[in-house]
Amino acid sequence: MEIKKLGVLGCGQMGSGIIQVFAQAGYEVMAVDSIQEMLDKGLKGIEKRLASRVEKGKLPPIEKDTIMGRIKTSRKMEDLADCDLIEEAVPEDLELKKKAFAQLDRICKKETILGSNTSGLSVTDMAAATKRPDRLLGIHFHNPAPVMQLLELVKTIMTSQETIDAVKQWGTTLGKTVVVAPDVGGFIVTRLFTPFLLGAVRMLEAGIATRDEIDTSMKLAVNHPMGPLEVIDFIGLDTELSIAETLYEETKDPKYAPPLLLKKMVTAGWLGRKIGKGFYEYK
Ligand SMILES: NC(=O)c1ccc[n+]([C@@H]2O[C@H](COP(=O)([O-])OP(=O)(O)OC[C@H]3O[C@@H](n4cnc5c(N)ncnc54)[C@H](O)[C@@H]3O)[C@@H](O)[C@H]2O)c1
Repeated sequence: MEIKKLGVLGCGQMGSGIIQVFAQAGYEVMAVDSIQEMLDKGLKGIEKRLASRVEKGKLPPIEKDTIMGRIKTSRKMEDLADCDLIEEAVPEDLELKKKAFAQLDRICKKETILGSNTSGLSVTDMAAATKRPDRLLGIHFHNPAPVMQLLELVKTIMTSQETIDAVKQWGTTLGKTVVVAPDVGGFIVTRLFTPFLLGAVRMLEAGIATRDEIDTSMKLAVNHPMGPLEVIDFIGLDTELSIAETLYEETKDPKYAPPLLLKKMVTAGWLGRKIGKGFYEYK
């Protein structure tokens, strides 16, 4: 299985970072999003991040143009047909992802490997929506994708060892450290990290500490670069709520139960940094 041409479906917060990782590693990338503005915004973000590396002397200016030149965009899923591997990064909604994979399965050549960036949804359910469950797996990048070193692969009982071996090898060409996790809700990282984040919302909700007291305490006591409420703003409150709902549904463990405050903030449309307001306000 040779992995050369890459595709990304969904050019939001994660998709844009993943496209950058792929292009920086020397791969040709076809980026598809149903909304043109998201493609424009995603590309602008990549250009800005690369320009900042050029300014700091970390990237030769010519290299920035070469990287940008490897990226093509489209609003049509059909343009992903000849990719060797496609990474899906549409919103954290199982039905949406199943539909997208069923469509990709129909469109793509039979060798194409399909990966999902899901934070914690059932990869098995996504694989079952296709006729290539042996070639579908979770390929979980962490946020921000160009910075975070971990690549968490998720193997279902249907994923072939050949697929895992090929993707593991390819993952190292991106400069990432690869771990393989089983398909249980939240895999390794989200399963461990979610109770901590939800605990911070509960603490705020119960009036035990203020937003700044919680975030400052965790930054200074545990040396986290961001406090937990800042992290939820960064992830997106809608994404965090969906993760909590999935994990609670699967485990019925109260530590994953979505706090009422999180639900209310999502209903209010306060989705975090991406819309300019969450636990904090952003210009
Ligand atoms: N945000 C994080 O911190 C984070 C971290 C790790 C993993 N993830 C996971 O990555 C995935 C994407 O999250 P995000 O934060 O980038 O979401 P996002 O809402 O920022 O972006 C999703 C993008 O998908 C596009 N889209 C929706 N339906 C589509 C379709 N049918 N075809 C093509 N494009 C479509 C939207 O227009 C949007 O641009 C989710 O599964 C999420 O759980 C998120």
